[in-house]
Amino acid sequence: MSAPDDAALIAAAEQAMARAYAKYSGFQVGAAVLTERGGLFLGCNVENICYPLGICAERSAIAAAVAAEGAGMRLARLAVVAQMQGAPQPCTPCGACRQVILEFGPDAEVLYRGGDLRVEHIVARELIPHAFTFRSP
Ligand code: THU
Repeated sequence: MSAPDDAALIAAAEQAMARAYAKYSGFQVGAAVLTERGGLFLGCNVENICYPLGICAERSAIAAAVAAEGAGMRLARLAVVAQMQGAPQPCTPCGACRQVILEFGPDAEVLYRGGDLRVEHIVARELIPHAFTFRSP
């Protein structure tokens, strides 16, 4: 099977977005990740009445990919989309998700909708300049 193009990856993220559990914010987010092995995994935001316990769509998709492929999972591409009351919204990954995306794919291509709702691309390492890291002794 050939790798999904931009439209297919966005469509996959939209499928996940439709399943989001976003009853507190109303902001539904979906993510689709394509791994270097060619696996496609989805995630959506899952909120909680104890607000800080919610998880973002991107980290939920990455967790699914690791669960399926193991600790060596590497990201090739990630798409994120959002909607509110059925209307598409611009959405880039939050800071926490940027750090997690970087961990699994510094060179991964990230697709998102910008302010004009057009799909834009950026390389993961450019999404989080000066990211946290440390050298173990
Ligand atoms: N959210 C995501 O799922 N991904 C992001 O990158 C930004 C924010 C979710 C978290 C929360 O459920 C809702 O969007 C509003 O912040």
